[in-house]
Amino acid sequence: MASMNRRRFVGTSAAALGVAGLRLPVWAQIANGGTSAAFPTLLGVDYYPDQTPESLWEEDARRISESGLTNVRIAEFAWALMEPAQGKFDFAWLQRSVDILHRNNIGVILGTPSAAPPPWLSAKYPEILEVNEKGEKLHPGGRRFTCPTNATYRRLSLIIATEMAKMFAAHPGVIGWQIDNEFTLGSSGRCYCDYCRAGFQNWLRTKYRSLDLVNQTWGTNFWSQHYSDWAQIPVPLPSGGDPNPGLALDYDRYQSYANASFLEEQLAMLRKLCPKHFVTTNNIGIPYDVIDMRELYAKVDFVAFDNYPGFFEMLLREQGQSGSQLSQAVSGMTAMQHDFGRSILRKPFLIMEEQSGKAGQRTFSPQPAKGQVRLWSYQAIAHGAMGINYFRWDTATSGAEEYWHGMLNHDRSKSPAFDEILQTVNELKALGPEFLNSQYQADVALYFDYDCSWAVKIQPGHYKLSYADQVTAWYGAASPSHTGIDLIGPGSDLSLYRIVFAPVVYVLSEAQAEKIRQYVRAGGIFVTNFRLGVKTESSQIIKRPLPGYLADVMGVTVEDYVPIYADNPHLKFGSMLGSADLECGIWTDILKPSTAEVLANYSSGQHSGKAAITANTFGKGKAVYIGADLRPPDLSRVLGTFTASVGVKPPFEVPLGVELTMRRSGNKRWICLLNHTGGAQTINLPGTFKDAVSGESHSGATELPGYGVMVLTT
Ligand code: GAL
Ligand code: ZN
Repeated sequence: MASMNRRRFVGTSAAALGVAGLRLPVWAQIANGGTSAAFPTLLGVDYYPDQTPESLWEEDARRISESGLTNVRIAEFAWALMEPAQGKFDFAWLQRSVDILHRNNIGVILGTPSAAPPPWLSAKYPEILEVNEKGEKLHPGGRRFTCPTNATYRRLSLIIATEMAKMFAAHPGVIGWQIDNEFTLGSSGRCYCDYCRAGFQNWLRTKYRSLDLVNQTWGTNFWSQHYSDWAQIPVPLPSGGDPNPGLALDYDRYQSYANASFLEEQLAMLRKLCPKHFVTTNNIGIPYDVIDMRELYAKVDFVAFDNYPGFFEMLLREQGQSGSQLSQAVSGMTAMQHDFGRSILRKPFLIMEEQSGKAGQRTFSPQPAKGQVRLWSYQAIAHGAMGINYFRWDTATSGAEEYWHGMLNHDRSKSPAFDEILQTVNELKALGPEFLNSQYQADVALYFDYDCSWAVKIQPGHYKLSYADQVTAWYGAASPSHTGIDLIGPGSDLSLYRIVFAPVVYVLSEAQAEKIRQYVRAGGIFVTNFRLGVKTESSQIIKRPLPGYLADVMGVTVEDYVPIYADNPHLKFGSMLGSADLECGIWTDILKPSTAEVLANYSSGQHSGKAAITANTFGKGKAVYIGADLRPPDLSRVLGTFTASVGVKPPFEVPLGVELTMRRSGNKRWICLLNHTGGAQTINLPGTFKDAVSGESHSGATELPGYGVMVLTT
């Protein structure tokens, strides 16, 4: 019953909280949860009482509360303080901290501390240490140096989390839990230790049941790899040659499962002991592919992740990017991570950590420009966030993150963005829970499949081919149309979308092909490109002409597939996509239409005259095959043409560098405009709109200041 309540409460409907509800502190809203349909507003801050002298806790709580912040997230790295020696627990300090926060009306999200086990633990149980892909054991002293399979680490992680839960289940100040911290963050990503090898073997037993089936599926006669005992099965460590691709793909799946099941142990315990609290976990936002985030978040109440656009910028600058291209890449990557986060559970998400100043471990990211922290906050909200926690309250004066600036400077004075954050928090509160809980509707879907990502990494086919880059490029090419994009996967319902973009669907099961077939037959538009359907879900090469299971839907066969290293061929469009010749990038699939119409031909090179892009009418829909790797502007034009052809369009056009998104609740809609450029931009509004933040009305040519934001209602 209790869990029914929580689910309904955390749930989805956007009915507004009553006026009385709005005035209640967040902990009281959570405590009253069963009656309210909208999620309480979480506009908080990540806080570290464990790193702060106790003499400052009262003052901190008062300042956090006076700032209008609703909640904190604490304790996710405090294992050593909570369990100073094995089995000896000390929660008195945390209790005092939570009491103080609660007295100041601040709701508390507790983090379970498994991301950083204390030194006594790794000293006593060195077997918990992760082994990286080179076979080297990690060392303690950082964080996330642990093996997700190791039973001792799992048992001790569950024990400390359970003791926390027992201690705080009934504390009125506690509102929810974050399990662990950033499972996706790690220097090596995956563990290859002996415990993982045994765990993998067990996982394979459950999956395949018979060793014969394993041998047959992976094709182990190759290089004399036939296994006659489960215990012989290795993990993909250096071995004088590349691993069996079937084994390697299964290993990636196993590692994802190991992390997700690690989370689930703590989740099951929290469900039992803390039925009134919400439970989530946080991660790096981009669909970084070491763990299938759909698997990881499947059973939590809502998705939460961390957002550091300035840190992205620093990384891209390190790679040599600059100028307007860089700023578009940063806003595009950030938008994509928000769209991904929202799409996982198809509901509003929480930013668990939001960049609030210069950020970095050894070097600083650029100082956010005035207005940029507010802009980043609104960008998350515009893409479907329901709340934000700023990282972090103070700035550490010791430890590896002294350079990661919070809302306070090292001397505890206000940081440059302090007032901007408060302004944002107040504005978002005024916009209200109906807006923050509203839905985001996308007519366009972008297919992101972990199997494809992993399998392309195992065998890229071309040293420059990266699945993540392709998906990101397709997102970038599709997003300027401002039509709303969901990032979907194999489990998703395609019928919700007018058009599905699906680059490099390298791994395709027969069942998934059938879903695509049904979608197109019923009227959907499916746009895909090269390396389609090359492998089955077992990573076996398909024994049919490419594109394998989808040959009928696409109305083509692939006559040849050609990685391009030099002399990039050109292609020429026919009338529908008409333009001058274009140069292809790193790949060309040479298409032979059976029923498809040819939209572009190769116009140079060995395959000159052959089909490069085709469209096939299939049932009531259309399947488009883009055989050539297209450069971003060309891809943008092609994808844009198909989006427009089905009548999917934004409410109005905006200039380059300005983002437009829309959230809805019933008949209400909010159009969010975000200026990612430093200069003012003019938006031509088709009619009169009300700015929900300022209350002003706007019509016609309207100026959006540099890094400015508008939330328009009609
Ligand atoms: C996040 C992480 C935090 C902190 C922050 C700044 O990735 O969850 O613990 O490290 O980045 O570095
Ligand atoms: Zn391991």
